[in-house]
Amino acid sequence: MPMAAGGHAWIVTRYEDVRTALSDDRLSNDRRHANYPSPIPIPPVMRTNGSMLSMDPPKHTAFRKLVKAECTLQRVHGMEPRVQQLVDEYVDRFADGGGPKDLVLQFSMPLTLAVIGELLAIPGQDLGSLYDATRGMFDYARTPEQRRAAVDFLDTYFEEFVAAKYKTPGDDMVSRIIARNPDLSLTEMVHLTRLLLNGGHDSTASMISLGVLTLTQHPEHFAALREKPDTAEPVVEELLRYVNVTDLATARVAATDLVLGGSTISAGDGVYPSTAAANRDPAAFDSPEEFQPYRTGERKHLAFGFGRHLCLGADLARLELRLVYSALARRFPALRLAVPLEDVPVLDGGFVYRLAALPVTW
Ligand code: HEM
Repeated sequence: MPMAAGGHAWIVTRYEDVRTALSDDRLSNDRRHANYPSPIPIPPVMRTNGSMLSMDPPKHTAFRKLVKAECTLQRVHGMEPRVQQLVDEYVDRFADGGGPKDLVLQFSMPLTLAVIGELLAIPGQDLGSLYDATRGMFDYARTPEQRRAAVDFLDTYFEEFVAAKYKTPGDDMVSRIIARNPDLSLTEMVHLTRLLLNGGHDSTASMISLGVLTLTQHPEHFAALREKPDTAEPVVEELLRYVNVTDLATARVAATDLVLGGSTISAGDGVYPSTAAANRDPAAFDSPEEFQPYRTGERKHLAFGFGRHLCLGADLARLELRLVYSALARRFPALRLAVPLEDVPVLDGGFVYRLAALPVTW
């Protein structure tokens, strides 16, 4: 298939083939490769293998171990009271003054940034400028100079942020990772904090907005969140399968010739194992085009990827989504779109499937 940014890539669509591809070490994540596929031109700052998302074994294996120790389920459970507090605070702000309001810019984005800011121990007063810069970096409505300025701002911010942690460690995630492996370079830590910020903020915010959009079209499931709180978990899992915001995050490039799903892929070919296609494969899910939170006995969705790069923030994202959808259902029982469904704008470009705005009222 031709890529918008030039070149061609294989698209893997069957559920079993996508799992196989994402577990195959012959498919590399190295973004420095000229054929690494992308739907959009990759900014030079991301054409590196400094970020763990772009690393291959054995370097990736060692690095992932360090980060994983910080992303345990136990640690995420420990964060629940504070995440609930933040959710309630941002729901209050959103309710203030009444609707209609834009759920993307006035709720999902600032809330998820505040949560990831908590994880990384970013000072609260810095969140506003980080919010502008993270939006600016992937906003294809901006000029290349404006996007470059946003990237430069983030580079400088995180270099100073991480350098301060080397000098004066605290009781926070970045300091603990440095303490466990003092040989990690400043650059590697800067890439990691930026990955956590982007991964944690953008994908979760998008899942909140697209999840709410889906729930406005299925009011019975939105009402159930209020009346039977234990429905939140299956609703979150089905939304992750159904919406699948990071379909373009799992690109690979073949390091050697290989056969996948009966097709011969040559060394150097770009490969897209499509988690969105896998999550709607009728061989894995009955009536995959339908939103059905109480599916039983079926395969697990691949929204967080699979294999060696499986999302390290999945437990935190699940916690946020569960608390957010439940809080919105309690606070705004009559939540609905403030514009016709076909007028809800989708944001083009970038790696995350996103809405430009979600006007809602209640
Ligand atoms: C709903 C929200 C999220 C979705 C859908 C999502 C999705 C993904 C996917 C598909 C990958 C795998 C990419 C690949 O195979 O190349 C990934 C990796 C990753 N995600 Fe997430 N993510 C979410 C939230 C988060 C959060 C909250 C964090 C941080 C706290 C996070 C941190 C990471 C990291 C560090 C990796 C790299 C893992 C590795 O390379 O070994 N993500 N994510």
